[in-house]
Amino acid sequence: MSESHGKGMRALILVGGFGTRLRPLTLTMPKPLVPFCNKPMIIHQVEALKEAGVTDIILAVAYRPEAMKAEMEEWGRQIGVTFIFSHETEPLGTAGPLALARDELLKDDQPFFVLNSDVTCKFPLRELLAFHRKHGHEGTIMVTKVQEWHKYGVVVYDETSGLIDQFVEKPKKFVGDKINSGIYCFNKSILNRIKLEKTSIETQVFPQMASSKELYCMELEGFWMDIGQPHDYIDGIAKYLPSILGTPKESESLFNEQTAKDLHFSVVGCVMIDPTAEIGAGCVLGPNVTVGKNCKIGPSCRIQNSAIFENTVIGAGAYISKTIIGWNNIVGRWCRIENNAVFGDDVQVKPELHLNGVKVLPNKTISQSYDKPEVLM
Ligand code: GTP
Repeated sequence: MSESHGKGMRALILVGGFGTRLRPLTLTMPKPLVPFCNKPMIIHQVEALKEAGVTDIILAVAYRPEAMKAEMEEWGRQIGVTFIFSHETEPLGTAGPLALARDELLKDDQPFFVLNSDVTCKFPLRELLAFHRKHGHEGTIMVTKVQEWHKYGVVVYDETSGLIDQFVEKPKKFVGDKINSGIYCFNKSILNRIKLEKTSIETQVFPQMASSKELYCMELEGFWMDIGQPHDYIDGIAKYLPSILGTPKESESLFNEQTAKDLHFSVVGCVMIDPTAEIGAGCVLGPNVTVGKNCKIGPSCRIQNSAIFENTVIGAGAYISKTIIGWNNIVGRWCRIENNAVFGDDVQVKPELHLNGVKVLPNKTISQSYDKPEVLM
């Protein structure tokens, strides 16, 4: 496809969910702005859309639009896309927002993309558009292969043409192992199917399109992860980092800035450290660690499979594993934090504590150990 193909296209990103499963991070920040690998989650999608030739992106917002607007307008200038905010006064689900944005979407006659804001993958949108144009029907959804197909809505389709036959929710016996990845391309005619009311695209619109033989699917190559909950967010780092840094061979270090031999600390596997962060001598970081802007990690810390958000200070000798440490935290020396723990904004942890799987609400000081997962208010 030529470079100019698709230029000027429109896209809609669904950013209206409450993000309850990613609390306490989403108590102070809308989910799309929560960082993933040192960039707001949604920016990964926006960059991919821009790369595919999209210039106008409708953000379907239902919750705290003001928090989104200020930050997104700055990103729009940097990336070179225009954002149009479509604000729901009542949440309209995953299809209703398309009806609300109808006039905006109808400003040209090209197909448009629709994306969920909380998935990570390579976003092969040019390939999606090419496949969509080739079959010539109303909609295409990207599907991804999963191991635990019995936990999901499985898409049953013709392997040769991609035509979707039906969706089977949590099948008891094997009917397929591909599920909806939350990445779509539609013709404008889909808007004739959607009323301006709370509607689910997955359970109300797609089955109807499939029965009129207007819905196709294309298999997404490579990794995919819904990063809307802590465990999957942490797994998502392990999938995303190798996709941009390369897959490490045994005992190899892959780091975004320098090679580990130039450093006074060690890197194991894939690690992403913002250039403004300071890492103490003798630390061992990785695999699958991200450290945000202006963080200060004290000497001799061991951090693995974790994200540390910006402006956080970690004391000497801390051990952090499978944890998301939010913004502006202060973690005391020799703490041990593990097992899908998540700390909100502005949390302080006194030295020498063990925190196992706890979710800590914003602005909280922790002065004792917790050996079992619980929510600390
Ligand atoms: P949880 O509360 O943790 O389930 O997260 P969520 O509210 O984001 O729900 P879910 O992950 O199922 O949503 C999938 C996508 O649809 C996300 O990108 C959401 O932002 C978006 N979404 C869900 N409900 C709405 C809605 O009512 N309006 C809009 N505009 N987007 C929505």
